[in-house]
Parts: sequence; C-alpha cells; structure tokens
Amino acid sequence: MFITSKIWVSNMNYERATASIDESLDKLGTDHIDLMLLHQAMGDYPGAYRAMEDAYKAGKLRAIGVSNFYPERLVDVAALAEIPPAVNQIETHPFRQQDAAHAVMAELGVVHEAWAPFAEGQNNIFANPTLAEIGSQYGKKPGQVILRALIQKDVVVIPKSTHRNRMEENFDVFDFELSEEDLATFSALDDGTLPRIFDHYDPKVVGWLLRDMVKQQIGGGSLY
Ligand SMILES: NC(=O)c1ccc[n+]([C@@H]2O[C@H](COP(=O)([O-])OP(=O)(O)OC[C@H]3O[C@@H](n4cnc5c(N)ncnc54)[C@H](OP(=O)(O)O)[C@@H]3O)[C@@H](O)[C@H]2O)c1
Repeated sequence: MFITSKIWVSNMNYERATASIDESLDKLGTDHIDLMLLHQAMGDYPGAYRAMEDAYKAGKLRAIGVSNFYPERLVDVAALAEIPPAVNQIETHPFRQQDAAHAVMAELGVVHEAWAPFAEGQNNIFANPTLAEIGSQYGKKPGQVILRALIQKDVVVIPKSTHRNRMEENFDVFDFELSEEDLATFSALDDGTLPRIFDHYDPKVVGWLLRDMVKQQIGGGSLY
C-alpha cells in the first residue's frame, strides 16, 4: 500500500492545511501518509506548502509534492521551498502527453505523475485503433499499451478502476517493452485537439472553481 492524499483548495493556507493534514491522518487511522500533494496552484499555496514541510519534518508525511502545477508555478515552488516537491501530478494521457512540462519536471528532479492516464475514458480511448494495433504485437490491450508507454516515458501512472479484472489488467504491464518505433507512434497520438479535462488556463473554469465551489466551502471570506 502507498497512500497518497491531496490538500483541497478550500484548505489552501498554513492554518487550514495543517488542520487538514491532521484530519486526513485521523480519517485514515494512520500516523503517516506516504505522499501529500497540494491539489491546485490556487489560493495561499505557499502557506499550505509550508504546512506540508512542517508535517514532513514531524514525520507525518513521508513525501510532499504538488498537483496541477504547470511549469512556471512549479519553478516558483521548487525554487523557494525548503523541501522541494517530490512529485507533480498533472493531466497526462495519450492525447495530452505533456512533453514540455515533463522536461521542466525532469530538470527540477520532480517526478511526473499522470492523473487520468486513460483520459477518463474520453475520445473512445479503449477502442483507439492505433493503440489496438500496437497492442496486438505484444498480446496487450489498448489500456495496457497506454500504461506501458507512459511508464517508458518516465511517467508514474495511477489508473482508476472499480472492476477487479481491470485492476489486474492494469497491473499486468511489466512483462513487455514497447519498441522505439511503437513509442514514437504512441507519442504522435498527442495532436493537441482534445480539450483539456480541466483547463487551468481558462479564467472562467478557474473562477467557477474558486468562486462557486471554494467560496461556498469556506463560507465566503478569504484564504489569504
Ligand atoms: N489531481 C487532479 O486534479 C486529478 C484529477 C482527476 C483525477 N485524478 C486522479 O487520477 C486517478 C485516475 O483518474 P480518473 O479516474 O479520473 O481517470 P482514468 O484512470 O483515466 O480513467 C478511469 C476510467 O477508465 C475506466 N477503466 C479503468 N481501467 C480500465 C480498463 N482496463 N479497461 C477499460 N476501462 C478501464 C474506468 O472504468 P471502471 O471504473 O468502470 O473500470 C473509469 O471509467 C485517480 O486516482 C484520481 O483521483 C486527479
């Protein structure tokens, strides 16, 4: 078991993040969490990051990191933090492979973790003919090709399934290796046409999250 949790935007300052880490430990019934992430680069995230650093020093968190921190935000936190982020979890799947963001993470020594490696099933991903064609050479399914290709690109994958047989299928990706040619074919699936699942660059989407969701959760007021 490797337990990861995230600090949500409504807890994005020092005091709230400190309390939310203790609440997570309490709810999970454990004295430490393996990896804690800041969910978004929104609100007083430097304050929340300091709360994670203190919890790390206290042994409550074994590793700390961030999620949805695009390169300029990641450089900000990585440059100024006392304990650099170990991981950045961002939307990554065949149609959005995030090669540019990956290069920045590699330079900073931050592990790239993919959320929604199957694009949450969008774009008919499990019936994609290119993935099926690659998989047929190795006796593997499209989903397994995706996981294997991302792993070979040094991306940590966290596919989600509510079905036991699919979980087993998703684990069964360590007995084959895609060729350079197949990896190049996989990489070409990212043609930039699929809309982002969550668009952090769209002010409307960000405003909706902060004003409509987070303000309601904290009962108005300020996180600063
Ligand atoms: N940091 C963030 O902002 C953020 C945002 C979104 C998600 N996440 C995290 O990312 C992880 C996974 O993301 P996700 O659930 O959004 O998307 P995902 O893993 O890309 O896709 C999950 C979907 O794929 C299906 N699936 C899984 N394995 C399959 C298989 N072998 N064959 C066919 N269908 C399969 C699942 O259906 P069944 O369940 O019916 O099998 C489910 O509908 C989760 O841990 C989530 O918490 C993080």
